[in-house]
Amino acid sequence: MFKLDRKLVTAGMVSALALTFSVTTVSASEVGEYKSKSGAIDGGVIYPRENGQYTAYKYNEQSTKGVSFGRPATANEIKAWDIDALPDGSGLPEGEGSVELGDELYEAQCAVCHGEFGAGGSGYPQLAGGNMDKDENGVIITLKNQRVYGSTDAPKRTVGTYWPVATTLFTYIRDAMPYAHPKSLSNDEVYAITAYILAQNDIEIDGEEMDDDYVLNKEKLSKVALPNRNGFYPNIDGPKGQENIRAFFADRAKNIGAGTRCMKDCKDPGGQDGKTPPAVMRIKYEMSDVTPPYAYDKSLPAKKKDENAHPGKEAYQANCVLCHKTDAMGAPAVGDKAAWELVMKKGLDKVYHNTIHGINGMPPKGGTSLADDKIKAIVDYMIEASK
Ligand code: HEC
Ligand code: HEC
Repeated sequence: MFKLDRKLVTAGMVSALALTFSVTTVSASEVGEYKSKSGAIDGGVIYPRENGQYTAYKYNEQSTKGVSFGRPATANEIKAWDIDALPDGSGLPEGEGSVELGDELYEAQCAVCHGEFGAGGSGYPQLAGGNMDKDENGVIITLKNQRVYGSTDAPKRTVGTYWPVATTLFTYIRDAMPYAHPKSLSNDEVYAITAYILAQNDIEIDGEEMDDDYVLNKEKLSKVALPNRNGFYPNIDGPKGQENIRAFFADRAKNIGAGTRCMKDCKDPGGQDGKTPPAVMRIKYEMSDVTPPYAYDKSLPAKKKDENAHPGKEAYQANCVLCHKTDAMGAPAVGDKAAWELVMKKGLDKVYHNTIHGINGMPPKGGTSLADDKIKAIVDYMIEASK
């Protein structure tokens, strides 16, 4: 909220100033005076630049002589970092993959965390569903609307409801997923999984539904228009931003207020008796396209203590579950009877020892600094829960 408001004021200030400057050149005697000019928004400051010109930003007059900024990056160095893809698809690699293949890959490598069909669960981000309801104009209700539609399951941040651009989905998966082995997928595989996730979100490309045989590639991915693509812009941004700002400032009295500016003794603005109008200028405008959240309370409900829980259970969930929930990372999955029978063949003492000192992919104490006793209690719990 605050951010948007500020952005509105700043953007408005800049354009108001721009209008002023196109016609005003400040006289030389005023250069160096940092004061509010007529036309600047209340409290707005403008800065001298050069040749009697003023700008909204402070002009850095310090000399950079003698300061070493290193050397320019070489073309190859830039290339190594410049791997993102822009919304128009430039920067995407060649390759292709079908929804069907994506389905298989997703099941094998992503579903453990992100749930079947991207439905989420176990605390990892949900990738599909969430809120695909449409409003009276047939437009998908996205997160922009916050919690105003009480009867729906909104808002959940999924690719379909929240993400503005699909090329980011490709690069995000390519660079960061699967969580434990980022960058292990080929470009073809990433295209396939991206296709699968888009299909799960009922995205159509060029009016075509993405069925199992649908093959996604660079060209098609660039054409995806996600439902929430315009949801990130308040009215002053986006394609009509400039027009909206002009309209906003054209009606200053309504949107900003037309009182007299108060510079001293402003504490008593009048109006407190309910009769005299306040002497202080008020900002009247409120952003019409932002719906405030229903509640600001951020505290979570108190946790219920499970009296009968195993003494190692809570610590297991806090420290070990990420790797031990499934065998995806080569760890014996808690609950997998056969796997733990195999582990226990080593004898309990050896297993304690391995857990505390680490073995192969198992970091010492699972990467924690818990006391040995605590670790042993967790191991007991894991064994108990795998019988
Ligand atoms: C071990 C669990 C795990 C696995 C397996 C995994 N992810 Fe993730 N994924 C995460 C976590 C944790 C995050 C949140 C990361 C963050 O916000 O920093 C995430 C975030 C994401 C996001 C961004 C979601 C959002 O809305 O912010 C996408 C997309 C994604 N994963 C796709 C995949 C795909 C595709 C695969 C399989 C190739 C995969 N993940 C496998 C744990 C996992
Ligand atoms: C980063 C992932 C990771 C975390 C976190 C992790 N483990 Fe492990 N753990 C593994 C892997 C991988 C193995 C299998 C090692 C092997 O035998 O190759 C393993 C094996 C084990 C074993 C069997 C050891 C044996 O002798 O075969 C126990 C017991 C164990 N972990 C307990 C824990 C406990 C307790 C925690 C939390 C405090 C924990 N782990 C956290 C990855 C992890």
